[in-house]
Amino acid sequence: MKDLLKKLSETYGPSGREEKIRKVIAGEIKDFVDEVFTDPLGNLYAVKKGKSTKIMVAAHMDEIGIIVTYIDKDGFLRFSNVGGVSPQILLGQRVTFGNGVVGSIGVEKLDDIKKLTLDKLYIDIGAKNKEEAEKLVKIGDIATYDREAAVMGTRVIGKAMDNRAGCAVVIEALRRLRETENEIYAVFTTQEEVGLRGSRTSSYRINPDLGLAVDVTLVGDTPEPPALNVALGKGAAIKVKDASVICHPKIKAMLSELAAKHKIPVQMEVLTAGGTDAGAIHLTREGVPSGVISIPCRYVHTPVEMVDLDDMENSVKLLTAFLSTSVKMQEAFPCALV
Ligand code: CO
Ligand code: ZN
Repeated sequence: MKDLLKKLSETYGPSGREEKIRKVIAGEIKDFVDEVFTDPLGNLYAVKKGKSTKIMVAAHMDEIGIIVTYIDKDGFLRFSNVGGVSPQILLGQRVTFGNGVVGSIGVEKLDDIKKLTLDKLYIDIGAKNKEEAEKLVKIGDIATYDREAAVMGTRVIGKAMDNRAGCAVVIEALRRLRETENEIYAVFTTQEEVGLRGSRTSSYRINPDLGLAVDVTLVGDTPEPPALNVALGKGAAIKVKDASVICHPKIKAMLSELAAKHKIPVQMEVLTAGGTDAGAIHLTREGVPSGVISIPCRYVHTPVEMVDLDDMENSVKLLTAFLSTSVKMQEAFPCALV
C-alpha cells in the first residue's frame, strides 16, 4: 500500500490534466476488473460485473495546481489557482509542470506579509527572458507541488494525498473483492478540486442505485486544532455531512454496522466546510442514496499532507465489506405512495 500511495502521490495530475495519473491507475487495476474505460471528460471507470445492485464508488484522481496566465518580458510567469491553493503555502515552494519543467515560487517586495495574495507571486523557471520561457511553458500550462512522498512509520507525507490516498484505497479494494452479486463501478474522477465536475457526468452515465465517495477529510488532532472529531490513526471516518452532501442515514448506518461486525475502527465525521464527489452523485437524476468513507489527513492542500497507513487499511476493509453487501433496494430505499 505504501509503495502504491507513494507512486500515485508523486504522479502529475492537476484538475483537467489527469492523463498521466489516469494511465498509472489504469495499469494498477486492469487485471482485477472485468472492464476499464474512459469518457469524454477523462473519468476512468473500472467495472466488476454483477446482476444485482449497481454501486458507484468514486475517488477523485485530480490534484490542486496553479495555471500560467501571463509571461512577462523577463520570463517570469504569473498564475491563477486550479482549486484551493493558498498564497501563504505556495511561497517558497518548488513546482513542476507536466513536461518536467521545474520552477521556484517567488514574491514581489511586500511591506506586510498579511497582504500576500496570489497575484503578488510568480513562478521563476530559470528563463532569461520571455522567449526562453515560452520554449518551456505555454499560457494555460498547469504546475503542481514538486514533492517526493516520505514514509515515517505508519505515516506518509507528501503532496496530493488528497486524493491519491482515496485512489489507493479503491484500487486495493478492487484487488481484494471476491465475487459479489453487486455490479461495481469504481470511478477515478476528474476535476473534483474545481467543483465535483467529473463525478457529476460519470454518475449520470452510470445511473447507480447507490453512491459512495472515498476522499480525505480534515482532522482536529494537531496543536490548537479546529473542533473536529476526526483524528489521524483512529480509523476510517464515516461522513455524516459536509458542505456538499448530507449522507443518507441508511448508508451511514450500513457503514457503521459493517464496521462493528468486522471490528474495523471508525470515527464519525462532520465537516463544516468543503465537499466531495458524493455531493454531485447524490443529486444525479432522481437522487442516489450516497455516503462517504473519509481518510483522515493533516495539512490538506499543502505539499506536506499526512495520512496514516492503518487508516487506509481500515478504509479498504470497510469499503470491501460495503461493496460485498447485498442490498434489497426496494426494501431499504422504498419509493411508495403514503
Ligand atoms: Co482537495
Ligand atoms: Zn479531495
